[in-house]
Amino acid sequence: MTSENKKLGMSTRSVHAGEIRYNEYGAITTPIVQSSTFIFKDKEEIRRLADGDFERFEYGRYGHPTQVAAERKLAALEEAEDAVLFSSGMSAITTSLFAILEAGDHVIITDDAYKRTLDFCKTCLGRFNIESTVVKMCDYRAIEAAIKPNTRIFFSESPTNPYLNIMDIERLMGIFRHRDILVISDSTFATPYNQKPLEYGVDLVVHSATKYLGGHNDLLSGVVLGKKELTEPIREYLKITGGVIDPNSSYLLIRGLKTFELRMQRHNENGQIVAEYLENHPKVNRVYYPGLPNHPHHAVAVKQFKGFGGVVTFELEGSIEAVLEFLGNLEIISVGPSLGGVESLITHPATVSYYHNTPQERLELGIKDGLIRLAVGVENARDIIEDINQALAKAL
Ligand SMILES: Cc1ncc(COP(=O)(O)O)c(C=O)c1O
Repeated sequence: MTSENKKLGMSTRSVHAGEIRYNEYGAITTPIVQSSTFIFKDKEEIRRLADGDFERFEYGRYGHPTQVAAERKLAALEEAEDAVLFSSGMSAITTSLFAILEAGDHVIITDDAYKRTLDFCKTCLGRFNIESTVVKMCDYRAIEAAIKPNTRIFFSESPTNPYLNIMDIERLMGIFRHRDILVISDSTFATPYNQKPLEYGVDLVVHSATKYLGGHNDLLSGVVLGKKELTEPIREYLKITGGVIDPNSSYLLIRGLKTFELRMQRHNENGQIVAEYLENHPKVNRVYYPGLPNHPHHAVAVKQFKGFGGVVTFELEGSIEAVLEFLGNLEIISVGPSLGGVESLITHPATVSYYHNTPQERLELGIKDGLIRLAVGVENARDIIEDINQALAKAL
């Protein structure tokens, strides 16, 4: 089963797509082909490779069977022609950008993209004479004004971290559709369950598959999806840069994806319930969740999303110490970075992601001391709420 079967329901695709129905052993699961090299059976096979028949596996860095099964499943879910897997989301982003860009090119990136992606554009690309302009997310005029004759890529993330700003992709593509600029969207927070940027004409979608796609906080991976003519050069470049996903993580990804639709439905449900609860909590100053009518991009989310996701950001009144006290009191939700897994995770940007920044820099970046990002898992919403409630009651 391949991505051609897009008429099938999402759960059917997530269970079956990419898998060989009757594999060599009759095993219902796709085997973890734990091998770094693939040997030749006989001289005919050696000759075939020499003659240019590359439809066989050769060496793990160039691709392996478990990776291919996972890639086909992801392509089927995103309804993309092709998917290329990597050892992490950052590997997917950096390899893709390096594969496309040349010295003298210009990149536009939105200001609240993932911190490391911004770092890469601002510092690493500059060393190769590739200039980056950082524009305000959702400022469509500024985005258009930033375009130069040598602009090669527009890169944005949507929804963003931690404020869950959402790009109106239709409006964005009104700017880029007729220009020779590749539009790349990091859709990690939305996943192909909630949003399909390719349907709007976005050229490439990337995900940190570490998050909702893997879904169990047990693997690192990234993926880039789109038309083969765009993904093939990236796949070739990956063979040089080497950030290939290993067979075991490929299998964990396949395994995690089987429940993708079920998990996403629960993440969406839980996100909404917890956001509504926090909105009415007297110790919470403000909640940022696209499913709430007061979110600045609620209307875009309603138009563009199937669900609003599992990440809820909120502001507590109080000092950093009081916030840390609250985090320390939690009994079910774990404190740690990342999101998209079955376990609820909470993080405090001021002391975790932005601890190197001065208080003034944090304020300029909009990272207030009381800001909290909660990645709601698939536990019972009532238990998550009770956990928050008891932790707040003791801390603030
Ligand atoms: C939106 C987004 N993109 C990319 C990444 C990088 O992914 P990875 O950690 O798998 O390298 C992250 C990581 O948190 C992320 O949140």
